[in-house]
Amino acid sequence: MAVTFTVNGRPVTSAAPEGTPLLWVLREELKLTGTKYGCGAGQCGACMVHIEGGRTFSCLTPVSSVQGKSVTTIEGLSPGRLNALQRAWLAESVPQCGYCQSGQLMSAAALLAANPRPTRAQIRDHMSTNVCRCGTYPRIMRAIERAAREG
Ligand code: FES
Ligand code: FES
Repeated sequence: MAVTFTVNGRPVTSAAPEGTPLLWVLREELKLTGTKYGCGAGQCGACMVHIEGGRTFSCLTPVSSVQGKSVTTIEGLSPGRLNALQRAWLAESVPQCGYCQSGQLMSAAALLAANPRPTRAQIRDHMSTNVCRCGTYPRIMRAIERAAREG
């Protein structure tokens, strides 16, 4: 059965078979390739998106479960301009290979939306869902702190 939902404010319909992960619909049907496939098992955070404002592993989310809901991907995080978090990311030169970075940003954005002044421990705890094989963790920490300060 077709599933209708919004992605980055745009209404979309997918006829993907039931159980198809949202990640595949985003990447393959909608060509929103900023959301990455890492492990497919909820272990790395590369696939992180927001559903109704809350961060979610899109690799573990059947597309049928987002019927009528609002999904935001990295492409829709701050359309047309860089937000404070993205500016901080650039200022701290966070990315290395870049593969994990959209997931990192989506997790960090969810944190600051819920807690605009997180402590270092809260940042570490929240961001523990996201793996970076390049080890950019210190720069991620600094960028989130900068965004909280300057945002
Ligand atoms: S691809 Fe979803 S958590 Fe790794
Ligand atoms: S920047 Fe390479 S995996 Fe994180």
